[in-house]
Amino acid sequence: MQDIRKDFPNLKEMNRGKPLVYLDSAATSLTPKKVINSELEYYEKFGGSIHRSVYELGEKATNAFENSRNNIAKFIGASKNSIIFTKSATESINLVAESWGFYNLKQGDVILLTDMEHHSNIIPWQIICKKTGAKIKYLKSTEKGSINLDDLKKSLDKNVKIVSITHASNVFGTINPIKEIIEIVKKNGSKTMIDGCQSIPHMKIDVQDLNCDFYAFSGHKMFGPTGVGVLYGKEEMLEKMHPYQTGGGIIETVSMTDSTWTTIPHRFEPGSPMAAQAIALSEAVNYLGKCFDNYDNSLNEYSLERMKSINGISIYGQAPERTPIISFNIEGVHSLDLAHFLDFEGITIRSGHHCCQPLMSALDISSCARASFYFYNNKDEVDFLIEKINKAISILK
Ligand code: ALA
Repeated sequence: MQDIRKDFPNLKEMNRGKPLVYLDSAATSLTPKKVINSELEYYEKFGGSIHRSVYELGEKATNAFENSRNNIAKFIGASKNSIIFTKSATESINLVAESWGFYNLKQGDVILLTDMEHHSNIIPWQIICKKTGAKIKYLKSTEKGSINLDDLKKSLDKNVKIVSITHASNVFGTINPIKEIIEIVKKNGSKTMIDGCQSIPHMKIDVQDLNCDFYAFSGHKMFGPTGVGVLYGKEEMLEKMHPYQTGGGIIETVSMTDSTWTTIPHRFEPGSPMAAQAIALSEAVNYLGKCFDNYDNSLNEYSLERMKSINGISIYGQAPERTPIISFNIEGVHSLDLAHFLDFEGITIRSGHHCCQPLMSALDISSCARASFYFYNNKDEVDFLIEKINKAISILK
């Protein structure tokens, strides 16, 4: 596993004058040199605005962009036309809420979410409820941070038009049994929107096999650049949807009074797209695929066991299937103080509400600390984290 560390220039950096121990990959993963080079290559070798330029440089950029779409489609078992480039998973979910929800929901309809959703899978639906009269209902997670499938079945009725749920929680780390969930929801005739931000960096996804209607993810959590995300949508769903943002590049015709839309996926990509980032994301999925083939997630168990040894620790989420995320609080030490303390030891963790205020309320806490691990982390870093948390406790408590 060690050999992949050399691929990440950031890992040679210092944090507050100390060697960097990067434990915040659930927020943003580090970027391998190959991906950085791919983005650089766009600026050095290609040019022009894609889909608009007849000259060779622009054509090269367009081809690279569309090849990237193709490669990402293959990576998740999708067709090319079902892949929409967005700026982030947040934008992808907003797109579904506005382009599908606004036109398909009405008074009396229900959008079913869970209490472990990130704000980006809550707020777009709240806005749509205001516009359409639909209502949100929430499934409560269990003490271990899981979804109870019987509760799901009981919550479904003819009013539930869509279930929008995270594949993996950014607080608990829980990997929800998404295929089973989708099957249950489909039997009810409801649509499914899956937030894949925290799952796709850790496991092979096949959207055909899952049979979801929509699947959203962000590039920057899976070795890719910032500023690019993806929305997968079933072609038959996308075909019927209107654009959520409009502008150049998405039209068939524009008159003084009206416009008609071009075909999918370009219908949902107004403006000059983030070509360099989308091209680099393709390199990122290649890199990620190799990691899946060569490395396991043994650090997951190791880190959880080591963390459990800390006095006064409460760990949130202990479902059997988890991504390598550990969210916790330590009695008598505020998570923000802990994060600041660790920062000065070179260790980066996240603290706060993790964009999950409803979940924080359900857990009856205002914030927690979170350490998250990725392929480039190792046991020494876990041990160093434990040592420094114990030091923090002895000083801050
Ligand atoms: N959504 C990201 C996180 O969980 C930023 O940290």
